[in-house]
Amino acid sequence: MASVLIQHGRVVTAVDDYFADVLIEDGIITQIGKNLVVQADKTIDATDKLVLPGGIDPHTHFDMPFGGTNSADDFESGTIAAAFGGTTTVIDFAIQQKGESTLKGLDIWHDKAQGKATIDYGFHMIVTDMQDDRLHEMDRLATSGVTSYKLFMAYPGVLYVDDGTLYRTFRQAGENGTRICMHAENGIVIDEIVKAAVKAGHKEPLWHALSRPTRMEAEGVHRAIAIAEVAKVPLYIVHLSSSDALEQVRLGRARGVDVQAETCPQYLLLDENMYRKPGFEGAKWVMTPALREKWNNDVLWQGIRMLELATVATDHCPFCMAGQKDLGVDSFTKIPNGAPGVENRMALMYHAGVVQGRISLNRFVEITSTQAAKTFGLFPKKGTIAVGSDGDVVVFDPKRTETISYDNKRTHNMRVDYSAWEGWEVQGYPDVVLSRGRVIVQGGSLMTRGGGQYIPRARVGNLLR
Ligand code: URP
Ligand code: ZN
Ligand code: ZN
Repeated sequence: MASVLIQHGRVVTAVDDYFADVLIEDGIITQIGKNLVVQADKTIDATDKLVLPGGIDPHTHFDMPFGGTNSADDFESGTIAAAFGGTTTVIDFAIQQKGESTLKGLDIWHDKAQGKATIDYGFHMIVTDMQDDRLHEMDRLATSGVTSYKLFMAYPGVLYVDDGTLYRTFRQAGENGTRICMHAENGIVIDEIVKAAVKAGHKEPLWHALSRPTRMEAEGVHRAIAIAEVAKVPLYIVHLSSSDALEQVRLGRARGVDVQAETCPQYLLLDENMYRKPGFEGAKWVMTPALREKWNNDVLWQGIRMLELATVATDHCPFCMAGQKDLGVDSFTKIPNGAPGVENRMALMYHAGVVQGRISLNRFVEITSTQAAKTFGLFPKKGTIAVGSDGDVVVFDPKRTETISYDNKRTHNMRVDYSAWEGWEVQGYPDVVLSRGRVIVQGGSLMTRGGGQYIPRARVGNLLR
């Protein structure tokens, strides 16, 4: 029986904070207590360190075909980078090709991940069309552990679906006890604004932001909540970026709709001035929704404190500047949308959240791990440190400082030729990262590759029906 003993650390979960030793045997936490007297195959000294549940990033796009190219990290490089950053589970997005079976889409994503992933993973299913005769597939997906769907109001002609498709899918998802994830932005109106900007001769990355008013995100959030309310399905707004959109979540929750929302470090810490950098550099942050005016950052932090925002994910969707982002050098409309970040989320949120005094340590654990596990049917297997839970543990050094940089191999293992967080100095960094008791990262080195498993997720239930 392989065993690891983590000694003398400060164990922090979403609700607890105490000093104890943690024993992991055969991948599962079997004992937690003071001064455990046990013989373990391996001992890790966590004196002066935090012992945290591994991070869960419920929003990644590995090896995703998009904008005429594929996101630059696959399941091999993406999960290794995640591990370096203290994330031990990702939920990636499988895609249904229009007119084809969702089950076929799932098979394709299993093939992409199997044997390549270093950390554990699950899948959401992106639905691109859902006629009545395909609804039965959704129950089969749920049975195989895919218990959430993503639908898009954005990207007309690509991933966009109309309101009828939304309603049909929402209803079935609700009946099955599963959850809807929504990319909520009025892509039809945005497309008209984009066309007018192009006609007026605008080409630069800044126009990606200027053509996407926050009101169109708020409209999408409002509509998604209204449809979910009628269809009676639990809803999760992905990558919420603005105060206007958050206001709609607040209103929906106040009238009893089961709606949660996710934001990302980029919407908490960056702003649209990134697009004003000289030349084509702003393309690094061309993502949808776009970065917003600076004042939105504080409103979103407030949303985290007031429990209006449930989780912080990355929406990791990296494209290299050379050969990918530069497809749009002559027009902002052709820049592949997305940015890297799976490796940086835990450190950024600890630094900007806990060290800078915006959130408590328990809330940090909740938004980066525990809540995603609960929302997406992984809890208590993942998302906490408890007897019986998986030994997904981060021994986190609260004093260690790093400068995030493309050139710093301790902070950049993503297969992309820039860092979206270049030069950011953070205090607090993972020292040892364990996935089901396997030490996968220690002292800035990768200790093992592969071994990540597909984790079927439970249905989330539906109290509205
Ligand atoms: O720009 C983004 N966010 N790219 C990934 C696809 C999505 O909308 O999540
Ligand atoms: Zn999206
Ligand atoms: Zn995304």
